[in-house]
Amino acid sequence: MKTHRIALLAGDGIGKEVIPQATRVLEAAAQGFQLTFEPFDWGCEYYLRTGRMMPEDGLDQLRPFDAILLGAIGHPTVPDHISLRELLLRIRFGFDLYVNLRPIEVLPGLEPPLRNKKPEDIHMLFIRENSEGEYCGLGGRFKRGTADEFAIQHAVFTRKGVERILRYAFEQARRRPRKRLASATKSNALNYSMVLWDEVLKEVGRDYPDVSVSNYHVDALAARMITHPESLDVVVASNLFADILTDLGGALQSSLGLAASANLNPGTRLAPPMFEPVHGSAPDIEGRGIANPIAAIWTAALMLEHLGETGAANRMMNALRAVTREGKVRTPDLGGQNTTREFADAVIARLVNAD
Ligand code: NAD
Ligand code: IPM
Ligand code: MN
Repeated sequence: MKTHRIALLAGDGIGKEVIPQATRVLEAAAQGFQLTFEPFDWGCEYYLRTGRMMPEDGLDQLRPFDAILLGAIGHPTVPDHISLRELLLRIRFGFDLYVNLRPIEVLPGLEPPLRNKKPEDIHMLFIRENSEGEYCGLGGRFKRGTADEFAIQHAVFTRKGVERILRYAFEQARRRPRKRLASATKSNALNYSMVLWDEVLKEVGRDYPDVSVSNYHVDALAARMITHPESLDVVVASNLFADILTDLGGALQSSLGLAASANLNPGTRLAPPMFEPVHGSAPDIEGRGIANPIAAIWTAALMLEHLGETGAANRMMNALRAVTREGKVRTPDLGGQNTTREFADAVIARLVNAD
């Protein structure tokens, strides 16, 4: 039987609560293939014990896996710029997972927070550049502690990096019925990086005459997500812009606890893809067992899809949709009173009864 080896990095905070539930749902959905899970205890507790977020050879340990399923990283006991850079960003950058795919859709039975908008009006696929841009981590702090102190934070946009993410976005747009691509720019102020972005958008666009392209300044695009979400299909944006817009996307889905994501390097098998919910470790609700596991379950379904197990991925999403449509089991972020585990139980019950 085909076996997929999954590295499990539950991480910190609610990551440790949602990942075990997503794993139970995965086990219930797996038919005709096997999943093996190997847990890694890397994260902030590991850091407090060892002084590192992950071992020095951490990437080598992860490389043989078919996929990585990650919960969330970050805890108030460790500065975020250490914990996130040394684990999450190290994996994204180290494995050159240059695509971060983030679907923004409303599940049945949920009421999006926008007045006068129907759930089907919110149906976007964000393609986030995930390997460079504002997240390159180059720069420095100078004259520390003096009145003349300053910091430089570079943003690196390479032609190769911009072209490959735009090409990927055009390919995704071409596959969808509406064949629309919106790009987030800010070339009115960022006169080097975003001007290059716009030029490459035009060039690559020539290869996709069937895709209609709109290039919006990112500020206007943020407003458009609220005022005309139905006009947006595939959206491509730089690392930072898409980071911000997809939390807004999560809110449009009804809760950040619903937004799923996949970090991919299409076209290479040299490194495993990584799947993670968009949300963080949510220290404000950790330890109470009430985190919404939908984002983690949806993320796990994306993982199955990318492992070629589309049947099981569809079964998972159908079970998830059946539970939200019925509306009986909801975590508090969606106005309910159920726990993380109770929600996962409901999805598992659907999966089992569907057999
Ligand atoms: P966050 O996403 O953790 O939380 C923002 C708000 O959304 C909180 O009120 C939280 O309770 C709520 N929320 C998030 N996920 C939820 C869920 N599944 N169910 C119910 N409510 C949910 O963002 P933050 O507070 O800015 O960050 C907390 C920590 O997480 C920080 O250390 C941050 O750097 C880190 N972080 C990590 C990741 C990641 O590892 N992928 C992503 C984002 C933030
Ligand atoms: C996300 C997160 C991360 C990001 C942080 C935690 C570094 O917010 O995945 O959206 O900004 O990429
Ligand atoms: Mn984010």
